[in-house]
Amino acid sequence: MAILKIARMGHPVLRDLALPVSDPTTPETATLIRDMIETLKDVGGLGLAAPQVHVLKRVVVFHIPEHRVEQKAEPGDAEGPQPLTIMINPSIEPLTEETELDWEACLSVPDLIGAVKRYKLIRYRWTDLDGNQHERIAAGFHARAVQHECDHLDGILYPQRMSNLSLLGFAEEMRRYSGEIEEVMEAAE
Ligand code: NI
Repeated sequence: MAILKIARMGHPVLRDLALPVSDPTTPETATLIRDMIETLKDVGGLGLAAPQVHVLKRVVVFHIPEHRVEQKAEPGDAEGPQPLTIMINPSIEPLTEETELDWEACLSVPDLIGAVKRYKLIRYRWTDLDGNQHERIAAGFHARAVQHECDHLDGILYPQRMSNLSLLGFAEEMRRYSGEIEEVMEAAE
């Protein structure tokens, strides 16, 4: 087991296209995923994509904890909490043209947050370590998190998705001036 170094914005590995994993069942893939999970737990993040740990493969690990979802959402709901999920070769299909603007943060863009428009409702599919196919419907923050993580596989960081860069800032300052920020946010929607 190993805690891996996380690449930060500016490192070329975060701009490259990650390659599909041809055989998800190899010990090499299992080791990568074990180390990614250990790294994610160590930093206390919600999601990690392989390019963030300098590996250009289409692998993502993520979870949606209870405190990040609407109170009435149950586990298993599209917008509900999700267990730690290991995705190999994930793909996303938007189920609506509708988008919503909300906050994102990224382990590769430390200390900052930014408001990004994402599809409100998606279907996503992936392969697990045993080679089995899965799919889920995702809404709200769950949909946002999956779109954010899969963007990493295509060399895209969330600031590149932003249409209003005045909604990018240090989390500490954005929280301190949240009243003013909300006004900018409403104007941007
Ligand atoms: Ni990220």
